Amino acid sequence: MPKVVVLPGDGIGKEIIPEAVKVLQAVLGNNNNFEFEEYLIGGSAIDEVGTALPAETLEACKSADAVLLGAIGGPKWDNLPAQQRPELGALLPLRKELNLYANIRPVKAIPALISASTLKEEVIKNVDLVVIRELTGGLYFGEKGRKKDPESAYDLLVYTEDEIRRIVELAFQTALTRRKKLCSVDKANVLESSRFWREITNDIAKKYSEVELTHMYVDNAAMQLVRYPKQFDVIVTENMFGDILTDLASMLGGSIGMLASASLSGRKGLYEPAHGSAPDIAGQNKANPLAMILSTAMMLRYSFDLHTKASKIENAVAKVLEQGYRTADIAEVGGKLLGTREMGDAVVEAL
Ligand code: IPM
Ligand code: MG
Repeated sequence: MPKVVVLPGDGIGKEIIPEAVKVLQAVLGNNNNFEFEEYLIGGSAIDEVGTALPAETLEACKSADAVLLGAIGGPKWDNLPAQQRPELGALLPLRKELNLYANIRPVKAIPALISASTLKEEVIKNVDLVVIRELTGGLYFGEKGRKKDPESAYDLLVYTEDEIRRIVELAFQTALTRRKKLCSVDKANVLESSRFWREITNDIAKKYSEVELTHMYVDNAAMQLVRYPKQFDVIVTENMFGDILTDLASMLGGSIGMLASASLSGRKGLYEPAHGSAPDIAGQNKANPLAMILSTAMMLRYSFDLHTKASKIENAVAKVLEQGYRTADIAEVGGKLLGTREMGDAVVEAL
């Protein structure tokens, strides 16, 4: 039986997860044999059991085929010691323990949402790119600490050859299934880790002569994503650069509330929207559940090979948007404003 662990987490995570599960149940049908198990994570877990990543949550995730995660964190837990906070105490260890080294964030301009973006229509129309972000190395996981004389702090950016190879290989493989263009983003004019990344990437490229490989500095990549995003097909980059560039790239798709993500280790995956727990709108039935819903489509695709059902969800989302339904983050004049639950219902209806 396929086992899916469901982790609502904090803030709007608690509101978008039920909508995603509702949509999943609808697409899977009544007789499906999927097992959904809910566990605590993040601030909610701190409040209930005193730790952001309870052992039983981690164990359940390890034995599951896939994990659905809403969002974690919030001001309530911001003043805890760093290692106990939801981000460093739960999300990062979970990514590391499950070896989720490949984070896939597809950015596609949805025609109905072009006017919701702050960017011009001619710039974002037909954008279709995917960012492959390394997720278990680099600055996020290097040694970090404080020193005296003078008072200082450091985070080390370290990559091993194997860590670079596996993510870059995946990026080339992905490019083969798409428009066969790969852009590796680094800062090789300054960073040694980037020069190493570039060497290995060039070496792997020898096996993939059909793929057109380019290298771009991260600062230029940020500018190019806004200037002319259609030049990109697959982008591969290290953890921190990928974090920053994917928030930026989300606006090409209309809103960060639309950006789905899959964090993979082979077929096993954790699926979560790229946005956070949005404490400012939590509990108000205002959050956009579509990134979470689109993340479940990625789950059906990557963990269960249910491509038709995944497309059904994606088409249903496109349809509700074409019908003019909007949550507040993508609202437009004349649009039909819906709450989180109502948007979930609309997607089920469209299915
Ligand atoms: C993301 C988020 C996380 C990250 C935070 C919540 C730690 O911004 O998934 O992009 O930086 O990876
Ligand atoms: Mg981020």
